[in-house]
Order: sequence, then C-alpha cells, then structure tokens
Amino acid sequence: MRVGGTLRAPGDKSVTHRALITAALAHARAKVSGALTARDARSTARALRQLGADVGPLRAGRAVIVQGRRWHAPADTIHCGNSGTTARLLLGALAGQGFSARLSGDASLRGRPMRRVTAPLRAMGAAVEEEAGDGLPLRISGGRLRPFSYHTPVASAQLKSAILFAGVSAGVPVTVSEPVRSRDHTERMFRHLGFDLRVSGTTVVLEGTGAEWPTLPDFELEVPGDASSAAYLVGAALLADGGELLVERVGVNPTRVGFLDVIRRMGGRVEQAGRRDVSGEPVADLLVRPGALTATEIGADEIPSLIDEVPLLAVLAARAEGETRFRSVGELRVKESDRLGLIAGNLRAVGVDAAADGDDLVVVGGDAPPRGMVETERDHRLTMAFAVLGSVAGADVRLSETASAGVSYPGFWDDLDRMRQDD
Ligand code: S3P
Repeated sequence: MRVGGTLRAPGDKSVTHRALITAALAHARAKVSGALTARDARSTARALRQLGADVGPLRAGRAVIVQGRRWHAPADTIHCGNSGTTARLLLGALAGQGFSARLSGDASLRGRPMRRVTAPLRAMGAAVEEEAGDGLPLRISGGRLRPFSYHTPVASAQLKSAILFAGVSAGVPVTVSEPVRSRDHTERMFRHLGFDLRVSGTTVVLEGTGAEWPTLPDFELEVPGDASSAAYLVGAALLADGGELLVERVGVNPTRVGFLDVIRRMGGRVEQAGRRDVSGEPVADLLVRPGALTATEIGADEIPSLIDEVPLLAVLAARAEGETRFRSVGELRVKESDRLGLIAGNLRAVGVDAAADGDDLVVVGGDAPPRGMVETERDHRLTMAFAVLGSVAGADVRLSETASAGVSYPGFWDDLDRMRQDD
C-alpha cells in the first residue's frame, strides 16, 4: 500500500489515567483536554465516580471536567475492566484513604500480579486482603501511612506511581528508586501542578504535603497524543510501498519513545518536527517515510522505554533483514496477555521465524508475505501490531478478533484505512 495524509493519535492513556486520578484526589476543579476516551480511560473515570469525585463524561474532542471531592467508601466493587494502570494507581491512592474498597477486573486483569504494588503499600501501613492469591479481586483498607522509601524490584511506572499516589493521598513523603528509569508522567504532572518533587537519576523524592486532602488551585491539563498508539501508524507507514505520513501532536517523552531510537537503528525514517511542551510533556509531529529495515539488538536497559511497543517492533523485525533480539523482555509475560509467548507463536503462525529464548525474544526477518491466523487473546496491542503486519503487500493475516483495539485506540481501524492512498 501507499500511504499519505495527516493523522492524530488518541490521547495518551498513561497521562489520562494520571490526570483523572490527580484531579479527583485533589480539592480542585480541573479541565483536562485531549484525554483518551477509550475503554481503559473509562474504567478509571467510572472508578473515581464510585469514590465520590465528579468526573464529567469522556467524549472525543471535548474536555473532561473533574471536580475533586473527599473520597468515600464505594458502595460496590470497583471494576477496573482490562486496565492494569487503573487498578495499580488506584490501589496507591486508596492506600491513603480511611476506608476499604474491593477491586476486581476482567479475566485478563484478575490474573495479573498485584503484590508488587500491595507489598510496598502494606509496608506503608495499608491493609490488603487477597481473595485469589497474587491478583484481583482484593480489598484494600487505607488510612494513615508512614513516610516511605523504597527500591522497586522491577522498573514499573505503575508501581512507582502507586507509591507516589499513596504519598499524595496520605500527605506523607515518599522516595522511590528503580533499577532502570520507567516512564515519568506522574513525576512530570506532579511537578507541573506544583507538588514538591525532585528527581535525581533513577530516584524520585516527593515531599509530604501534610494534608489528608491536598488542595490545588483549579487547573487545566492538556494530554498529548499517545506515542504507543502512534507507533502502529508509524509502523504501518514504514512497511508501506511509498508515500509519507504525518502523525501530529505525539507525546515524545524520552521515557516513552525508545521505539523511535530502535526504528532509527533499523534504518527507518521518522523525523520529528515542531517540538513543543504541553502541560510538562514534550510533543512533536512525526513524519514517516517507508523504506527497507535491518535487524538490530534491543538491550535490557532500553526495554522500559518501549515496553508496550515490543509487539509492534517485533512485527517490524519480521520485515527487516537479519535477526533481531529483544533482551530481557520477561515482563511481557504479565501484560494484558502473555505477550512474549503470543508474539513468538503468532509470528510463527504467519510464517515468520520467531522464538522466545528464555526471557529474550528473537525474530528473523524476511520478505515472504505473512499468511495465517493470529490469536490475539483480546490483547489490544497484539491486535494492532498484527493488523500492521497484515497491511503489507500480499499479506493474508486473519485476526481472532478486532474489537480489543478499543481498549486504547477506538479509531484505530478507521485511521489505518485513512492512511491508505491506494485507489
Ligand atoms: C504504564 C506502565 C507500563 C505499561 C502500561 C502503562 C503506566 O506498565 O506497560 O501499559 O501508565 O504507568 P508497568 O508499569 O507494569 O511496566
């Protein structure tokens, strides 16, 4: 296919969760524009309403108005749907609240580890009752927390952010350091809103507000386009036969766009233009031109900056010349699906030589048209990555379902269609 035109990725999912939770937790009125309106964002909005915050409707193209209120115990279980970020960030915020709440989620989320978050929150003083081992459902009872300093065993922004939200929610100081720096949206947002937060290397220090209910001046936040969603458009354009595609207003936070460095190493042509700052986050327009790709190696230290883009990069590696190795991607086993196993298995199912080698993923590229059936296990990122692979000339890639794209990118199928310039 030839590509052309200008597209805009939906609002950043990570930033949207954080903006809604921060606004709901503070004594303030917030106007959040550009927010994601997809299923995961709705899970967060719904949960916050259950806790008493006044969160307006999430409608594409419209700002969301949030009036923070003192939270109260929810009447029913909080269902986090498919959204790990909703569950883990809320656990942090709930740890500082003087009531108990039960959290659950869909089958995928119920199977994902929560102890990485609940263990430090317990150490801070929250009580947690598990119903099914290391996962949801569980009940958290919050209250007065201790000042806390923690070194995380995994580079996880959800874990780091849960502790930072616990600090804000209880008004106590927290220090979090990580083995490798994970995405820093919470830090940027808190600083942007005037919280006393310092970052040095991989350590974040948040001073306590001393208040049980932080007061902020009313604020406005603009959410950048989601780099993780833009990545599929970039990938499809790179694999096209000609033309060029402009993706506007993409968040290019360095802790998120490791995939652009990898694409550059593979010989992919993606230029950034019009770099600017939006509510504390860097944003740019991406101009993408198709071309031949070559294999590369992705080091363990790079993984946190591209963790959600591994499915897409694996699909690009399947079209690149040579063998690409992703080092230490074991975390992919505990995402919305076992992404490590499913990327390798599905690539093989469409005729690509790929394997999980311990915690590494190895993909051998080629130019035979990919053909076969892909089992997405309803994982949005697998669905969209394999749709990109299915867009190459001569491909016949069938997906077990297409609806899961709506978890993070409701307009994905329209946008993929819109960039095609074939007649
Ligand atoms: C996210 C962090 C990452 C990422 C997820 C969103 C966030 O998870 O995979 O999609 O918004 O903080 P981990 O923190 O578990 O790595």
